[in-house]
Amino acid sequence: MARKKFVCGNWKMHRTAAEARTLAREVRAAAEPLAGRVDVAVAPPFTALFAVGAELAGSRIGLGAQNLHWEAQGAFTGEVSAHMLAEAGCRYVLCGHSERRQLFGDTDEAVRKKTGAALAAGLHPIVCVGETLPERESGRTLEVVGRQVRAALSGLGPDSIGGLTVAYEPVWAIGTGKTASAAQAQEVHAAIRGILKDLAPGAADAVRILYGGSVKPDNAAELMSQPDVDGALVGGASLKAIDFTGIIQGAIR
Ligand code: 13P
Repeated sequence: MARKKFVCGNWKMHRTAAEARTLAREVRAAAEPLAGRVDVAVAPPFTALFAVGAELAGSRIGLGAQNLHWEAQGAFTGEVSAHMLAEAGCRYVLCGHSERRQLFGDTDEAVRKKTGAALAAGLHPIVCVGETLPERESGRTLEVVGRQVRAALSGLGPDSIGGLTVAYEPVWAIGTGKTASAAQAQEVHAAIRGILKDLAPGAADAVRILYGGSVKPDNAAELMSQPDVDGALVGGASLKAIDFTGIIQGAIR
């Protein structure tokens, strides 16, 4: 089944609101002409969401956030709810990015709650999974990724599963310049597709599975030519409009 490719930039903790506005303007100028054939989004820091949303208004480039809390409101100092993100103009939100899991203690259960809260607020979650280097080297990649996918999606019906995206980001490939080979990515993506078929037989073929981890203009096309690699979640290279656009072009070829 033909799935429209999806390229999302994760700006992580880069760019003030003023800087983000400039980057968003550059991304819009370069990527908007391609954004009909590929779904495109950027996820700036919380403080830049309104500024970037204003800069992208009327374009086909979507706005995303990098994290959320699962409660609608309450005494949760430092947290932001799904409804707040929706009001800020977000269509997408990352759930369970490996930096959240590794540095801020996001558990499988937290990722499940975040994913559910995002869906309930009408946001499109991008559920991130991926193994560490020791896990890969001990042959546990599919076990770890499978556990993360099943945990994040547990309790969700087929319609909900059809309304989200999964991102496979091997931890050892993030920010290291080491990309998974196209074959390594495809192997894990196919396994994730198998789990989705198990959980939601009618919806699995429509779910996009993105690859993330040192995606650059020169490796994007090969990665995205794999049958189950439906796009890219891009960190460092999304901070340069020309590189981000080069990656989007790789999705069209
Ligand atoms: P890099 O593209 O910088 O490796 O980051 C990947 C990532 O974590 C995207 O979410």
